[in-house]
Amino acid sequence: MEESKFYHKPVLVSEVLQYLDPKPGGVYLDVTFGSGGHTRAILEKEPTCKVIAMDWDSVVLDKYGPPLQELFTDRLRLVWGNFSLLYKLIKSEKIPMVDGILADFGTSQIQITERAGFSMFRDTPLDMRMSPSHQKITAEIVLRDSSEKKLVEIFSSLGEERYSRKIAYAIVQARSARRIRTTKDLADIIEKVVPKSKTEKIHPATRVFQALRIFVNKELENIESFFPVALKLIKPSGKLVCISFHSLEDRIVKDFFKDKATERVVKILTPKVVTATEEELFANRASRSAKLRAVEILEV
Ligand SMILES: C[S@@+](CC[C@H](N)C(=O)[O-])C[C@H]1O[C@@H](n2cnc3c(N)ncnc32)[C@H](O)[C@@H]1O
Repeated sequence: MEESKFYHKPVLVSEVLQYLDPKPGGVYLDVTFGSGGHTRAILEKEPTCKVIAMDWDSVVLDKYGPPLQELFTDRLRLVWGNFSLLYKLIKSEKIPMVDGILADFGTSQIQITERAGFSMFRDTPLDMRMSPSHQKITAEIVLRDSSEKKLVEIFSSLGEERYSRKIAYAIVQARSARRIRTTKDLADIIEKVVPKSKTEKIHPATRVFQALRIFVNKELENIESFFPVALKLIKPSGKLVCISFHSLEDRIVKDFFKDKATERVVKILTPKVVTATEEELFANRASRSAKLRAVEILEV
């Protein structure tokens, strides 16, 4: 597959392969297929293994799935679905026990660069849904219908935004006069109330956009629902490998792994979180916030 600006460059590929450790004849579940970079790497690393690859974004699945399907034929199975509903998919898609699961949480570069609402650098409708057919509530609806208090809560808890109150107040004032419809409408409101930082290079709206995206897509709740089912689906000695991109996700992964290690359900394979090497950081800027953690499932 050619690398283009529409391709999500997978992060920490050799580290994923090291911790997932695909075995001959093994079956692996990649619950965040994206552009299929990790799926492909697993299938190439172990020529007799199989991958069931899932994503709830049907657009990426339809675009990047078929070329890989053609290449790997019956070694690859593509499933459209939300990993938070894994317990349902196991039944409806007849997903067997697997030898390992990979979850590369968050958003793909394709969603950020092509989809409506994800980036403040392109003026598009405030949508932000990763899977519109699974979701009804857009970012525009959240901004229109949430109380000021709720907006403060979203921006501070999911964006760790210190100017949450000021921004929420400005949004409530603005929406009483006009519709906040596009990314530029929102970015303009925020730019007016957030003082320019001398130290930070990020756009002043970055944290609010992150918070809205996490809220609209229920990103943290989805991870929490996924974990207990994922653990039951992996055979003893199998691995669960997770990559997260911000501290809120990583905290959920870290705490869950720690709890399950205490219960002797898993063994932690990454006592120290794994991050990108200097070489990868240089080649792929998106890898700078990637954090990988992995566990092995223990015999009960
Ligand atoms: C960081 S990208 C994964 C990139 C992929 N590993 C690759 O090599 O191209 C995250 C992907 O997870 C998907 N995703 C996010 N939340 C999901 C969920 N709850 N269920 C299924 N897929 C989800 C997104 O649609 C996106 O395609």
